[in-house]
Amino acid sequence: MEDCINKLEQALGVKTLHSEKRFSRRNNVYFVEAMTTGNRTQMYIIKENINESTGNEVFLLNALKKQGIMVPDVIWHDNSIIVMPYIQGVLLADLLVDLEVEEEFWIGEFVKWLHKLHRFMNINSRVGLCMSDLNLRNFIFDGQKFFGLDFESVCFYPPERDLGGICAFILNNDPMFVNWKYRICNSLIRAYENIPSGDGCTTKLDREAIWFYLIEEMKAAAGRREGQRQYLNTKIEELSYSSFFGDD
Ligand SMILES: Nc1ncnc2c1ncn2[C@@H]1O[C@H](COP(=O)(O)OP(=O)(O)OP(=O)(O)O)[C@@H](O)[C@H]1O
Ligand SMILES: [Mg+2]
Repeated sequence: MEDCINKLEQALGVKTLHSEKRFSRRNNVYFVEAMTTGNRTQMYIIKENINESTGNEVFLLNALKKQGIMVPDVIWHDNSIIVMPYIQGVLLADLLVDLEVEEEFWIGEFVKWLHKLHRFMNINSRVGLCMSDLNLRNFIFDGQKFFGLDFESVCFYPPERDLGGICAFILNNDPMFVNWKYRICNSLIRAYENIPSGDGCTTKLDREAIWFYLIEEMKAAAGRREGQRQYLNTKIEELSYSSFFGDD
């Protein structure tokens, strides 16, 4: 941590007031509050990549920002760390259980963000850039707009991959598999379909494909989470296409 803070102070000429580690499975992520040369306090996130250089993520963050897709600015970076502004908001993981933000509003904003990502660098009308890691801690809502946070592992797929993936994370995050989450997943899919593309058309999603990717992500979660493996595998057996989509 000290190394990262030193780099931040040297690169930006700021003085750290307070710092703390934030939850990250793969890397080291630090929240830093610092005093600028103009005597203002600024909040930063330092992401220290453990497994690979920051090059790809920095490239993507800059390219997405240029395209008007909401992501944190890259303030400074080297091969191992990215310094960005701290975005004040609620992680999607917490938003799901936060009854203060109107559901229809945040779902609408979330799918708009995802749709923009999918249309950026799209290869054809079906295949585009996908988030790949749809962990609910990779999205933050500032009260008006969503920001995507984590671009270490993107891929090119049809949009159904991200929609299946996000539905799996919604269902298998705590509280797991509660009834209202099935409704949220269906609202999210329908809201995505209602977004007009550049040509004025909307996207008809292939529900069979969403279902396929949902189950794939559930299986991947069962593989990763040893403690929940048995429960998740039972749920995978129990879940059915018709009960998930209901009378959608
Ligand atoms: N710019 C930011 N503003 C506010 N919070 C942020 C920002 N960047 C990251 N975070 C916080 O740090 C956490 C980890 O960030 P990120 O997902 O980019 O790192 P990661 O190493 O890929 O983590 P993981 O392996 O857990 O997915 C996020 O879930 C979020 O809580
Ligand atoms: Mg992450």
